[in-house]
Amino acid sequence: MTNKILAKDIISVGAVDWDRRLFDELIPLPDGTTYNSYLIIGKDKNALIDSVDPSKEKELLANLKSAGILKIDYLIAHHAEQDHSGSIPAALKAYPDAKVVTNPKCKTMLMDLLLIPDEKFITVNDGDTLSLGDKILKFIYTPWVHWPETMVTYFEDGKILFSCDFFGSHLASLEPYVGDEAKKYESAKRYFAEIMMPFRTNIKNNLEKLKNLDIRLIAPSHGPVHDKPNFIIDAYKDWISDNVKNEVVLPYVSMHGSVAEMVSYLIDALTKRGIIVKPFNLTKTDIGELAISLVDAATIVLGTPTVLAGAHPQAVYAAFLANALRPKTRYASIVGSFGWGGKMPEQIAGMLGNLKVEIIPPVIAKGFPKKEDYLALDRLADAIKEKHKILGLI
Ligand code: FEO
Repeated sequence: MTNKILAKDIISVGAVDWDRRLFDELIPLPDGTTYNSYLIIGKDKNALIDSVDPSKEKELLANLKSAGILKIDYLIAHHAEQDHSGSIPAALKAYPDAKVVTNPKCKTMLMDLLLIPDEKFITVNDGDTLSLGDKILKFIYTPWVHWPETMVTYFEDGKILFSCDFFGSHLASLEPYVGDEAKKYESAKRYFAEIMMPFRTNIKNNLEKLKNLDIRLIAPSHGPVHDKPNFIIDAYKDWISDNVKNEVVLPYVSMHGSVAEMVSYLIDALTKRGIIVKPFNLTKTDIGELAISLVDAATIVLGTPTVLAGAHPQAVYAAFLANALRPKTRYASIVGSFGWGGKMPEQIAGMLGNLKVEIIPPVIAKGFPKKEDYLALDRLADAIKEKHKILGLI
């Protein structure tokens, strides 16, 4: 990536990863990602904000070289996760006089993860400032966006917030700003769903902490820079709010067609009742799409056959994922089938403990659904409609 000037004396020197398709060997990245690193040139000192994934360290060093930088005094580490910290050892080798500036918790993690020696660190407290001569950087602790040690940096004169994972997106682009707002929103929402949603309460506290800052640019360490800060701040306020939508998310798997038939019937029944349904065939779907839908939906209904006395492993995975992501979903239910027995509904319901949901009685058919099963699916659709009415969604 060629360097991009973000503002006077501030250069984006990170890397684009067009080909990355999985993060943490789990999260799908259909649009690749970027590891943004920002060089701030001061009158007396230079600072580098975050590094890049170790797979791109040569690119970072080449970008710094092409920026004509002979010395870096401070390597500011907002977050210990290796997609931002992993090239710090290489940067320390290239700029041996540099010190890693971070909070005590992040320092410990960087020592554990990257074996950076103690003497290489300067630790900062919440609210501390660092002078580059003509520029003052302020550090603000923002825990749990994404790990407990995360913090951000505010450059008051430039009105720029360097936010690391907070407000990020997995969206590869050569330009620091992306003009396509729909694409930008979708990528940011996917990122929120997969990475930030479990920490909604912490995000609320962090937004409160940042609310009085005068911000012109938000420069995260993944994806586009936000030159309209309210675009992303308002989106976050919406996603972390307790408001849910008149939507049912319906992840399902079907082995021989019984569950598929029930799901198809339930989709029609809910649609006729004015409810938006988002079905996901778990053998084909991108789990990121499922995660995005969980951000707003009032209800989740899982569909699964019974396999070896329990739920199908694909449904177990979806339940485990939904439980881990902790969406604000209010209601849950299960539709499924069995041949001769098992504890599938109890198993799935027992996996949703993190969700503060009321379980609406499941509909389980013996084999292919029959008249009484279709009636039970109608009753399930009625029950969901009633619940959504209580929430004022219909
Ligand atoms: Fe982009 Fe939590 O690292």
